[in-house]
Amino acid sequence: MSEVIEVVGGTALRGEVGVFGAKNAVLKEMVATLLAPGTHTLENVPGILDVTLMADVLRHVGCAVDLNGHTLTIDVPEDPNPEAPLDLVRKMRASIVVLGPLLARVGKARVAFPGGDDLGARPIDMHMKALEKMGADFSLEHGVLVGTVPDGRLQGADLGLRFPSVGATENAVLAAVLAEGTTTVGNPAREPEIIDLCRHLNEMGARIEGAGTNQIIVQGVDRLHPATHHVVPDRLEAGTFAVAGAISGGEVTVLDCNPENLRVELSKLEAIGCRIDREEDRFTVHGPDRPQAVDIATLPYPGFHTDMQSQFVALLSIADGTSMVTENLFDNRFSYVGELARMGADITVDWQHATVRGVWQLSGCPVMANDIRAGAALVLAGLAADGTTTVSEVHHIDRGYERFTERLAGLGAQILRHR
Ligand code: UD1
Repeated sequence: MSEVIEVVGGTALRGEVGVFGAKNAVLKEMVATLLAPGTHTLENVPGILDVTLMADVLRHVGCAVDLNGHTLTIDVPEDPNPEAPLDLVRKMRASIVVLGPLLARVGKARVAFPGGDDLGARPIDMHMKALEKMGADFSLEHGVLVGTVPDGRLQGADLGLRFPSVGATENAVLAAVLAEGTTTVGNPAREPEIIDLCRHLNEMGARIEGAGTNQIIVQGVDRLHPATHHVVPDRLEAGTFAVAGAISGGEVTVLDCNPENLRVELSKLEAIGCRIDREEDRFTVHGPDRPQAVDIATLPYPGFHTDMQSQFVALLSIADGTSMVTENLFDNRFSYVGELARMGADITVDWQHATVRGVWQLSGCPVMANDIRAGAALVLAGLAADGTTTVSEVHHIDRGYERFTERLAGLGAQILRHR
């Protein structure tokens, strides 16, 4: 039987908690190493399940991967095996970013077609279109996406994305760095994790400009070299601990982060009634006596992050007043709401809108996590609930949070994990 997290609500969290490197940066930076043979080092790597899963993908490709504390060493061979099989891609969709580097480096790739998941259909048409414009051909053979580069080397191209997709931007940039000539990516994703990936690639000898703006320009180079890279702090971990402080009415200082990368989310917490003291690499959240309702709409960066939506809904479920929460990124991102309803939350979902009518208090009960952030949100809800909340399927939480239970316990939460 998988483990559960049991949390007894009612304790105001107090103290300091540090965050580790960003999941959504490190996974792509692990893949970026495929672009150059030799020994690469990533520092500030979070101890999360997704890093282990990506290490398995890299091992399948022929790399030797070693995690020592928060430092990851990856030995990339001269002749990578250009393949990511279904069992690995199913476990972690982000594996699809191997497409760009494998096509750029080896001229071929065989990657299981990812299909949809708990968040909706999640097509990869933009990834493929960008790579096709650079000279790749794709066919779907028995569920496997087979990519080839008939000319031997990808060619720089003008790419305009119809939507600033994080994954498509990454695949395009990861391919363009070794392509012949210049690639421009118009309307790219501008996430801090993309900026960090581009910084890593430049440390490997790539020539990328404009990351974080509305156009990324990549001058292809003939070869890259291994580098040592320090992963940007995880703003989603930081934001989750911020909501933990807010929902428990406590006072939590989040260390080793960049509050600028959480600008919108922290200002929403202020609108909800928190006081926030910001410094360069830390911030402190002073939770309100009663949270106040606010409206939220998720958007690509610099908008409100979809991966913070469920944690905020947990908080708003006990706010004074009614909040309207709109999900603009994914088709199916309110499925956890039924679990919050078991705890007494009053939420109506109409396609991409959730109307959250704040209740005085939630009531602890058994609930089930169905993705990383929803799992975290249920634990946060438990911090504010009357009695005991038992969250099952917590392996989802392990995908994105290192030692979540222990770190919340360090802030005074009455929480433990067991079978
Ligand atoms: C990444 C993050 C995820 C985050 C998301 C949005 C990782 C590992 N995951 O996911 O945590 O929630 O960004 O910030 O970094 N789309 C298409 N066609 C495509 C590509 C995307 O229609 O070719 C759609 C998706 O179905 C989705 C939207 O675009 O509705 C956003 O997806 P995208 O930005 O690509 O997110 P991911 O890279 O999958």
